[in-house]
Amino acid sequence: MAEEILKNFFFIERGYLNGNHFLLRGEQPVLVDTGYIGDFARTQALLEGLGADLSSVRLIVNTHTHCDHVGGNAIIQEMSGCEVALHPVGRHFIESGDDWSTWWRYYAQEARFFKCAHSIRDGDTVSIGPYDFKVIHTPGHAADGIVLYHPPSGTLLSSDTLWEKDMAVITVRIEGSTALFAHEESLDKISSLDVKRVFPGHGSPFSDCKAAIGEARKRLGVYFRERERIGQDLLKRIVIYTLLMHPGREEELFHDQLMAAPWFRETVDLYFNSEYALKYREIMEYLTLKRLILRKGGTLYSTVKP
Ligand SMILES: [Fe+2]
Repeated sequence: MAEEILKNFFFIERGYLNGNHFLLRGEQPVLVDTGYIGDFARTQALLEGLGADLSSVRLIVNTHTHCDHVGGNAIIQEMSGCEVALHPVGRHFIESGDDWSTWWRYYAQEARFFKCAHSIRDGDTVSIGPYDFKVIHTPGHAADGIVLYHPPSGTLLSSDTLWEKDMAVITVRIEGSTALFAHEESLDKISSLDVKRVFPGHGSPFSDCKAAIGEARKRLGVYFRERERIGQDLLKRIVIYTLLMHPGREEELFHDQLMAAPWFRETVDLYFNSEYALKYREIMEYLTLKRLILRKGGTLYSTVKP
């Protein structure tokens, strides 16, 4: 689904495996985020369907360096020689080859490094064609996270800092023990903006920014009071994410893959006394009951939109 939110500036809604992304259509297109690498053919089809020539892309602006937001960068850079702009923290991750801080290695995700030409800092203005967006650094979910705000139209590209009815995972193991506080401060920054419409990193656009911030604050409150909820939410979402990366995987193989990745065992170590088999069983039962995971002849699928 695509929506022209400003003249020639399109919002492209994806699902959970791929972050939503944006296109400024023109002779030298500009992109904001580029989906997951394994789904690049679909990303390309969607962008070309809106009239973008990927070999002419001038600039990619990324809201952070997670795999579902930078997946198309290396390929599009090869096609076009385009430049990439990132917050200095993300630029440092990419230039130093730090695939741990980007979460890629921790969550066993597929991603490729690329070249970054520009640093965009808190308070900077980034021009996307005729539209000047204010850069706001919003760490918490991701140390290099930014949101982009266009004051004349009250448009906020909120990435994974703010969703409407849900909250992006907090990976304390990578983001550090202050991640919840950082995310709370990031919400404070957004709450002072005059926002008419929010375009999140996952999910549909929405208008009530204050209500969404309220929901996110409530979730943070739960996390502050009940530490294990952070782990519980993380296990549920990343199991789904792993399945979306490898649909139709035989369950035994899927189980072994989860146990081999750092994140599953570490999350269970941190929050659930290293009870790997018990947590695996609980999470799979829950997700199957909710019909978020389907079993077909020994193989697993997710019903979540990729
Ligand atoms: Fe993210």
